[in-house]
Amino acid sequence: MSGKRGPIIAVDGPSGVGKSTVSRLLALRLHLTYINTGSMYRAMALAAADSGVDITNDEALKDYCSRVSLSYDFSTGDTLVNGVSYSGRIRDQRTGELASIISAKKPVREVLTSFQRALGERGSVVMEGRDIGTVVFPDADAKIFLDASHEVRAKRRHEEVTSCASHTANDVSDELRKRDERDAGRKNAPLKMAEDAVYVDTGELNAEEVVDRIVSVIKDRKI
Ligand code: DC
Repeated sequence: MSGKRGPIIAVDGPSGVGKSTVSRLLALRLHLTYINTGSMYRAMALAAADSGVDITNDEALKDYCSRVSLSYDFSTGDTLVNGVSYSGRIRDQRTGELASIISAKKPVREVLTSFQRALGERGSVVMEGRDIGTVVFPDADAKIFLDASHEVRAKRRHEEVTSCASHTANDVSDELRKRDERDAGRKNAPLKMAEDAVYVDTGELNAEEVVDRIVSVIKDRKI
């Protein structure tokens, strides 16, 4: 571990792989602070859309990002954009779509990357996202890349949204595929595994088993 700060654990991977559940449990187990960066892209997307910004217009988005003020509530994990919490709509399907679009845009990534670095630089964090080990904290003490087949992830996502009867398994599978293509295919900080990350396939494991595996990697490295 570098310097005197606490450890920085980066957890990356595609949608529906179980990153949030695993990262939250891992942080509890190791007495670290859990930070979910996907919810920051979601909050930014909602804030920009609510302000009437056309998120497909690069100039308008750049202007919005240059004026935006962000803060983070460590007790709830909410990101406040211009003082407003978007927690009520943060997990909506539509919000995920907007976040996936906005997260490909450079000014949005720049503003959120520096925000994430400022939150995590003192260490003692488990930070989850798509580019934490590659871009946000390339010197993280441990980098974990969670993965699972498309089928496994689509099944998990479908189970999460079964309350919404209009959402068929096929809809969920198609949306996931689109999201994956956008997240991995974008020019700015695409989803990819860092060369020095530990790859964990979560397909056959429950969340506690994934956490056990990560904890043993961390202990082996004496982090
Ligand atoms: O993990 P999530 O579904 O809440 O993330 C929402 C979107 O934000 C997703 O399409 C990818 C994007 N994202 C990103 O580009 N970089 C991150 N560090 C976290 C999320």
